[in-house]
Amino acid sequence: MSKKVVLAYSGGLDTSVAIPWLNEQGWEVVAVAVDVGQPGDLQAAVDRAAPLGAVDARLVEAKQDYVDRYALPALRMNALYQGRYPLVSALSRPLISEILVAVAEETGADAVAHGCTGKGNDQVRFEVSLKALAPDLEVLAPVRDWGMSREQTIAYAEERSLPVTTTRSSPYSIDENLWGRSIECGILEDPWESPPDDIYELTDLKTADGYRDVVVSFEAGVPSGIDGEALTPIQVIAVLGKIAGSYGYGRVDLVEDRLVGIKSREIYEAPAALALIDAHRDLEDLTLERSVAREKRAIDAKWSELVYEGLWFSPLREAFDAFAASTQDYVTGEVRLRFTAGGCLPVGRRSATGLYDRGLATYDDGDQFDHSDAAGFIKLWGMPATQWAKARRRR
Ligand code: ARG
Repeated sequence: MSKKVVLAYSGGLDTSVAIPWLNEQGWEVVAVAVDVGQPGDLQAAVDRAAPLGAVDARLVEAKQDYVDRYALPALRMNALYQGRYPLVSALSRPLISEILVAVAEETGADAVAHGCTGKGNDQVRFEVSLKALAPDLEVLAPVRDWGMSREQTIAYAEERSLPVTTTRSSPYSIDENLWGRSIECGILEDPWESPPDDIYELTDLKTADGYRDVVVSFEAGVPSGIDGEALTPIQVIAVLGKIAGSYGYGRVDLVEDRLVGIKSREIYEAPAALALIDAHRDLEDLTLERSVAREKRAIDAKWSELVYEGLWFSPLREAFDAFAASTQDYVTGEVRLRFTAGGCLPVGRRSATGLYDRGLATYDDGDQFDHSDAAGFIKLWGMPATQWAKARRRR
């Protein structure tokens, strides 16, 4: 009896070719496509898996789970790798790993497989996640093992008349989910070349006209509405993404430090994620106590690196999340974002739990700040520096 492997299947060229390739290595393949909000007809892709040689093919709906357990925690962390990349692809891999393990258990499989190459971060994210979730399950990486170039992979498919839709025409490698879109390869590999306009699908600068203000509401750090209308987080992501995208906001063009040591040029478009982070971070500035806010900014950056580097299933990520959760109770209120061509700026914020006190801040009548307190405070605050300066002059 041949052994069984559960393959993370997207319907793209590599994971399509992986099915007959694994068959040739003696594996029965269960193909699993996970819906995390990518575009296109995923069911049609799943329907092609049996003709490719899969014994079982499934579509697993995971959008709600992805938002609740991955995207919203990332938003709570204002998560940006290198201060700019909202972790689009890094967030989906641990969830896909969870689903692979569940299907492997259900179908009594001996192994799971992913379609990553040996050069990227995604292989690390899958394999570290899979090891944490199911240490005894074998992990196969057919695309890394077969050593075929993209041309050779296409030739392999053509020789066997495989039902794959990918042609030689699209030079890009694209990964998308409802938190955004990652675009790599082709002309983009020259970091000096401006990205061609036609790579963008979620953002359009040509439709940007004047400016538009949008009010985003949050309840305890979770987005809860737009312009006064109550919406679910998934709806906020969809609505805000459309508006931001129509102003060409949400593009990132980044020379990225991969975990495997390579610098690579990456393009992202994440209009909803970036606008939500802009708004959430602004509301935190209003509602978090200063020392908590400072500590959180440092933890936000560390969390982003940890997740980028594939350590979602780690005690440190859980500890960071526990800290973050404890900070969000008062992150309730509204932020007004102003979209202009390619830009987004918070231009107003309010919160019943905000810490802004106009009586303390004002320079007008009604000032409640006791100015005489300042002199003594400055004297003591500066005392260590003053003492040090005196001693240095004596030397
Ligand atoms: N460089 C990004 C990351 O490491 C994007 C990876 C995109 N993956 C892909 N298969 N195109 O998260």
